[in-house]
Amino acid sequence: MRTKFKAWAEPYINEHPEYALSDEEISLLDDFYLEIGSGKGDFLLKMSAKFPERKFLGIEKNVTCAGITLKKLVEAESSNVKFLYKDAAEVVELIKDKSVNTLYLNFSDPWPKKRHTKRRLTSVSFLDEYKRILKNDGELIFKTDSDDLFDFSLEMFEAANFNIKSVTHDYDGLDEEDAQTEYELKARNKGLTIKRVVVGL
Ligand SMILES: C[S@@+](CC[C@H](N)C(=O)[O-])C[C@H]1O[C@@H](n2cnc3c(N)ncnc32)[C@H](O)[C@@H]1O
Repeated sequence: MRTKFKAWAEPYINEHPEYALSDEEISLLDDFYLEIGSGKGDFLLKMSAKFPERKFLGIEKNVTCAGITLKKLVEAESSNVKFLYKDAAEVVELIKDKSVNTLYLNFSDPWPKKRHTKRRLTSVSFLDEYKRILKNDGELIFKTDSDDLFDFSLEMFEAANFNIKSVTHDYDGLDEEDAQTEYELKARNKGLTIKRVVVGL
């Protein structure tokens, strides 16, 4: 579902650089939790409130979604979160090796057309980078309501030699180390099942 463009978002982002990071600051991050494609930020907000001792970084490339997330972070005065309005492809390459505890991909865009395969956040070029930035005992956790994207992603994780730790085709959402996202709530309200996979190195 497309988010309606909000003209206030970009000026708001420019007025709140306190949640952003320079390229150098990105390259110095260590021991943190990363969400790629944060949407309107509910997961980031809930997880950072639930685990105040952890450091989080969210990345979102849609200006309106980024503005909405940032507004929530500012209003909540979240102090253990950084947030970037950028394409993840530009950010991940700056992150240092073995620095990420958990990488969350929540309801990533399915990009169903074959010619758009490379844009999927579980396509091979992204997975190579995820392997590089995850700590040895780090995990990547992927949730989706899309059967096709889930099957594709499982194949990609296997092909990239990730260690598949758990696969759930009807995830109940009750893991303490998790929080519900906007898309997840909508999917559950429609009666759709949620698929979830946890992988490590
Ligand atoms: C389907 S939405 C899900 C949003 C949220 N994670 C949720 O579960 O409600 C996917 C989001 O990922 C963002 N996204 C997709 N590709 C991205 C990329 N390469 N870098 C940053 N954000 C990306 C989109 O802009 C969109 O907001």
